[in-house]
Amino acid sequence: MKCILVFCGLWTFTHCARILGVFQMPTFSHQIVYQAIWQELALRGHHVTIITSHPLKDHKLTGLKEVDVSEATLKAKQENSFVGFMLKEQNVYSRVQNLFEVHYRLAEAVLSDKAFIEIYNASGAQFDVVLAETLVSPTLYALAAKLKAPLVGVSSLGAWIGVHYAIGNPSPPSLYSDMLLPFHRQMTFSEKVVSTVYYIWVRYYLNFEALPKCDQIARKYLGNDIPYIQDIEKNMSLLLLTTNPILYEPRPNVPTVISMEQMHIKPVKPLPKDLKQFLDNAKEGVVYFSLGSNVKSINIPEKLRKVLIEAFAELPYKVLWKFEADDLPGKPENVLIGKWIPQQDVLAHPNVKVFVTQCGLQSVEEAVARGVPMVGMPFIADQTRNIQRLSEEGAAVGLEHTTLTKEEFKNAIFEVVNNPKYKQNVKRLGEIWVDHPLPSLNRTIWWIEYVIRHKGTKHLRSPTADVSWFEYLLIDVILVLLTIVSLALFILYVAIKFILRMIFGGRKLKQN
Ligand SMILES: *[C@@H]1O[C@H](CO)[C@@H](O)[C@H](O)[C@H]1NC(C)=O
Ligand SMILES: *[C@@H]1O[C@H](CO)[C@@H](O)[C@H](O)[C@H]1NC(C)=O
Ligand SMILES: *[C@@H]1O[C@H](CO)[C@@H](O)[C@H](O)[C@H]1NC(C)=O
Repeated sequence: MKCILVFCGLWTFTHCARILGVFQMPTFSHQIVYQAIWQELALRGHHVTIITSHPLKDHKLTGLKEVDVSEATLKAKQENSFVGFMLKEQNVYSRVQNLFEVHYRLAEAVLSDKAFIEIYNASGAQFDVVLAETLVSPTLYALAAKLKAPLVGVSSLGAWIGVHYAIGNPSPPSLYSDMLLPFHRQMTFSEKVVSTVYYIWVRYYLNFEALPKCDQIARKYLGNDIPYIQDIEKNMSLLLLTTNPILYEPRPNVPTVISMEQMHIKPVKPLPKDLKQFLDNAKEGVVYFSLGSNVKSINIPEKLRKVLIEAFAELPYKVLWKFEADDLPGKPENVLIGKWIPQQDVLAHPNVKVFVTQCGLQSVEEAVARGVPMVGMPFIADQTRNIQRLSEEGAAVGLEHTTLTKEEFKNAIFEVVNNPKYKQNVKRLGEIWVDHPLPSLNRTIWWIEYVIRHKGTKHLRSPTADVSWFEYLLIDVILVLLTIVSLALFILYVAIKFILRMIFGGRKLKQN
């Protein structure tokens, strides 16, 4: 047993475990977070099998086996209404429904993928832990139940309201809104009304539509000998969330929720020669523009692109634009475009003065890690929330891209470049963000190995996961108390009536 001899780490020794990871969302910004985890697990000598759209293909990691499902999952994502999910005009209810639609298809794409089935058939249920991507749909958690291994949920974002509910995190709409709603911290009355209606709808939608459908898909591919999908989700041993106290309001979590941050941030690497030259020569300062791997600059409306090009042409700075095509018609002199840009390393360059971003979590983490203030132009998901928080902290200026004018855009850039408070605040946030007893990656790995060592975390499971809605709202207690009080009042009433009759009834008799 060669693997037993491998030295697994500095703090604790965990025998080499067999780990299965299923990361279905074929999006770079999600996958880079998971990559950091599976790479480290493989480096620590575990036998790691990963289902992913973005394999690392690092031949030095001998214990790592990557199953590339990018073809099937990309097809599933594209043929679906994922673009619909991106539309800002859509209300939150359709967005949740769209998100589930995408995830039904992604789950089917994975479960029917030939390479995946081979691994699954050959595994003989021999895994010590199953890591599964967590966003909204629990379908693929069924693999953990089927393989009789503890389940670890991993998210490249915070948790959606349905996940909080499943693991037993208190989330009354009076205190917390959802990550898909643009409210945060102390909500106003009308925000609370919206949050409450949404919360009730989510509970209804989950119980009567989404979960039965997830359960059906899991049974179709994995057979009938599994618990109901929601029971599998509630049985999660550990939930790893990419959160931080700046963008996500501090809240009570059950002990099996662990927060990770900046998992994908790497030490600064040297830049490619042409890029380095461009940035070195830009003594006047550089605006770095990217809308990330989901939104993409190439997809933005023609009108917005025109505003950007005209504004850039009038700026006294150089502009580096992540633009996903070979050619940008009308590209101004001072603009350099690139289809792919080593963003973390560019942001570390001292001449980069401002990052114009869609405010996806991973991009924000990179800007904060490198101390670059932002101009935020949110499109989807949590991006609106993120820019609101960053503006409140004085680390960014937010813009509304649907109505953006050239002057507004230029003014936002001048404000962030020329007012030193933005850079100071980004640095302040960066220091708070990562101040923990153990670095994020070490903490995450420790917890995964904890689950492996103890074969799950039954001893940490919170009873709040099993509370029904009428117990949660104290309806049973209120009913009993009301009954007791009513009974007491009734007895009192009868007694008083009886006494009165004794007194006055007797007098009446005498008078007669
Ligand atoms: C997997 O196992 C099932 C049932 O045992 C079998 O029908 C199927 O052909 C196998 N598939 C592969 C790719 O090995
Ligand atoms: C819950 O997980 C444990 C392992 O952590 C497993 O033994 C048990 O069967 C699971 N129960 C359900 C209902 O999934
Ligand atoms: C964190 O993990 C890395 C890689 O395993 C290790 O080199 C480092 O010493 C650890 N840091 C702490 C503080 O334990």
